[in-house]
Amino acid sequence: MTRLVVISNRVSIPEPGKSEAGGLAVAITGALDEYGGLWFGWDGEVSETAVSELTTVQRENITYATLPLPKEDYENYYLGFSNEVLWPVFHFNLGAMDFQLEYAKAYQRVNERFAGALSTLLEGGELIWVHDYHLLPLGKALRKEGVKDPMGFYLHIPFPSYDLLRAMPGYRGLLDDLLHYDLLGFQTDNDLHAFRQAVIETFGAEIAGDTIECNGRQVRTGVYPVGIDVDELIAEAEHSRDNEQARQLEEDLGERDLIIGADRLDYSKGLVQRFNAIEALLTQFEHRRQKTIFMQIASPSRSAIPEYDDLRRQLEEMAGHINGTYADLDWMPVHYLNQTFPREALIGLFRSARVGLVTPLRDGMNLVCKEFVAAQDPEDPGVLVLSELAGAASELSGALQVNPYDVDAIAAAIEQALNMPLDERQERYRQMLGVLRRNSLLEWRRRFMEHLSQQNSDAD
Ligand code: G6P
Repeated sequence: MTRLVVISNRVSIPEPGKSEAGGLAVAITGALDEYGGLWFGWDGEVSETAVSELTTVQRENITYATLPLPKEDYENYYLGFSNEVLWPVFHFNLGAMDFQLEYAKAYQRVNERFAGALSTLLEGGELIWVHDYHLLPLGKALRKEGVKDPMGFYLHIPFPSYDLLRAMPGYRGLLDDLLHYDLLGFQTDNDLHAFRQAVIETFGAEIAGDTIECNGRQVRTGVYPVGIDVDELIAEAEHSRDNEQARQLEEDLGERDLIIGADRLDYSKGLVQRFNAIEALLTQFEHRRQKTIFMQIASPSRSAIPEYDDLRRQLEEMAGHINGTYADLDWMPVHYLNQTFPREALIGLFRSARVGLVTPLRDGMNLVCKEFVAAQDPEDPGVLVLSELAGAASELSGALQVNPYDVDAIAAAIEQALNMPLDERQERYRQMLGVLRRNSLLEWRRRFMEHLSQQNSDAD
């Protein structure tokens, strides 16, 4: 079988015998496990020197090849261009964009360095799968290194509409970079449509079925919604009572209803609006006081970027304000945990919760909402309140969908969820579980890999 080479900005090497933390890492490891191969990218370390040496580690049939980022590149390529330019623009938040020429230069430089280092490890005759917004120019840089194998790129985050994209200096070059891949994958129809529109408006591209013809190149495109491993999650959820933390929480909750949110601490997740919605719930539906607990787990993320640090402080203040205003001697409405939570305990919390609050202002897909659904007890499932601006909204019609900016609508949806009769909850759960099974993680990578291999035989 053809070897698979995966490149992503962040590579997480699992401790022997330990399972992955979730999301992207699980998806990629699964693909590599199946095909055998190489995973290349940043090891998460920042080096004080400009030297960045390649390290390789073998775990079963996967080779991990990683590099640290010199401090300057960490600041300008990772924090700067990737997360202060691309991330906000692609998440429809132009106000948070901080474009600097140094950032753009570092972004190109690191992509070229990655291409140079990776090309020494390639054997030829492989399938190359590049992930996410940090690496838009990598395909073109690899071609310059003489790489001829099929290359696919998958965007995990949303693609912005053309008018937003245009506000980002250098967008033409990045669009052209993407056209050097053989296959481009997106989360939703909406993202693919926005990309097509951008290359039509910018370069006068022609669309022929699923192929884009542009600047003398032909690129195949497709929509591949990322999913989860449903059976594994169900098994984990069924065993969640074995987890000490989860069991303790269940006890502490008693008769109270748990509303749960779990996100990276990121402004795209709509956490400020969500906290306001909790306050609206407590003021507009007073009977929920004493009877409801809102737990928000916000795992620290990109805290060197001012917007992220400001958000952390704002949420701490908001949690303090809500608790200060509404708490009683024996009840605190908001439990705010600014920490990364062990996965097993998290799945246990999902299963105990009556409501899952997933209300991003914009999200490529969002796997938390899918995990929340799969973690439910089919006999007595909780209800998902989901932002209509998350990629997953187009699949999960069984959720109560809300506009994440509409605080009162979120509060009303929580109230509706808490009052929902059992048969309706079961019906909604069944609809969503069916979709999760159809669009599973396995299906996602099977379809992408199948299309990428077809590029292979076309090229032969
Ligand atoms: C999102 C991105 C991923 C990224 C993850 C964590 O899910 O799509 O590419 O790895 O966030 O962010 P971080 O900046 O810590 O890698």
